[in-house]
Amino acid sequence: MERAARIEAAGGHVIHMEVGQPAAPAPTTAREAARRALDHGRIGYTTALGIPSLRARIARHYGDTYGVDLDPGRVVVTTGSSSGFLLTFLAQFEPGDRVAIANPGYPPYRHILTALGCEPVLIETDAASRWVITPEALIEAHRRTPLKGVLVASPANPTGTMMRPEALAELVHTAEEHGIRFISDEIYHGLDYAFPASTAAAISPHATIIHSFSKYFCMTGWRVGWMVMPQPLVRAVERLQQNLMISVPTLSQIAAEAAFDGASEMEGVKHGYEENRLILTQGLPLAGLPEFLPVDGAFYLYADVSRFTDDSAAFARRLLDEAHVAATPGVDFDPHRGHHYLRLSYAGAPAEMRVAVERIGAFLRKG
Ligand SMILES: Cc1ncc(COP(=O)(O)O)c(C=O)c1O
Repeated sequence: MERAARIEAAGGHVIHMEVGQPAAPAPTTAREAARRALDHGRIGYTTALGIPSLRARIARHYGDTYGVDLDPGRVVVTTGSSSGFLLTFLAQFEPGDRVAIANPGYPPYRHILTALGCEPVLIETDAASRWVITPEALIEAHRRTPLKGVLVASPANPTGTMMRPEALAELVHTAEEHGIRFISDEIYHGLDYAFPASTAAAISPHATIIHSFSKYFCMTGWRVGWMVMPQPLVRAVERLQQNLMISVPTLSQIAAEAAFDGASEMEGVKHGYEENRLILTQGLPLAGLPEFLPVDGAFYLYADVSRFTDDSAAFARRLLDEAHVAATPGVDFDPHRGHHYLRLSYAGAPAEMRVAVERIGAFLRKG
């Protein structure tokens, strides 16, 4: 990003496909609600679990979206999903506990676990498993040394790949049969194109759901998310949040509740991603980049660049310097095979995506 900024400072036009955040602002309804609250005056603490009407609105979202009747008492508002990981790991795991995560995957999973003294166990995924953790792989890892938990994301970062509903259900059931706690990162729900994303909340009341207003609702900087906790863990999380954070920023909670009323605006943003997805999935093979993982959801395309390089970081640097396209090298997400992959984020404007395809094509042809 620094290198891209230097190119821009010198007058270059960089297409940003490295950052994993929407270009659009929060829904108008959210911004208006925040403005009204500011004019009203006092922004105090809220209760540790979050503003009750927001928790109720989130619970209603599960009924509206997935047909799940959810007790608002299980909803915990968090400071982005990031603090949700911290709270739920603290509530469920002890130092030394082993927690399975998919490789490639979102790096903070393993970093937060390591910071808490837990051991992240990377389970390799590949085309044969459709890039997700299978029940067999989970059991095999558990047999080697017992696991306390497993965390999956669907749609996932960096792959943009989703778990099919039956794959998710089988994994939840397998985990529970073996006493392994299930955590489902559903932060990219709403941004599903290949088939509808299913929630682990519909499969088991014992699963923990992590979610956020950052992605679908374009509210990264507002730092507000939520969890759906198994009932017996709510009190532990309440105590942790009260002591660690007191409460989630009030203005952001107020905006988040109103964000649900801006869903039609956000559907428009989603249609833009869908257009981008089409431009890339049709254009990149013609441009010379035909190998990528299933582009199911979120706004990521994870491309195999092994025919061009054994060093994705150097490749990304050259792509930026020579073609002015910024992308993220796979080594950020996969310590083992990431040197052969590149993540392209398509959260930008469709016109930019077309230029990106042209530039990538010219860059690859040049060699
Ligand atoms: C898979 C995944 N989970 C969680 C997060 C954290 O997001 P936030 O803390 O903004 O909710 C991100 C951010 O990029 C992500 O990609």
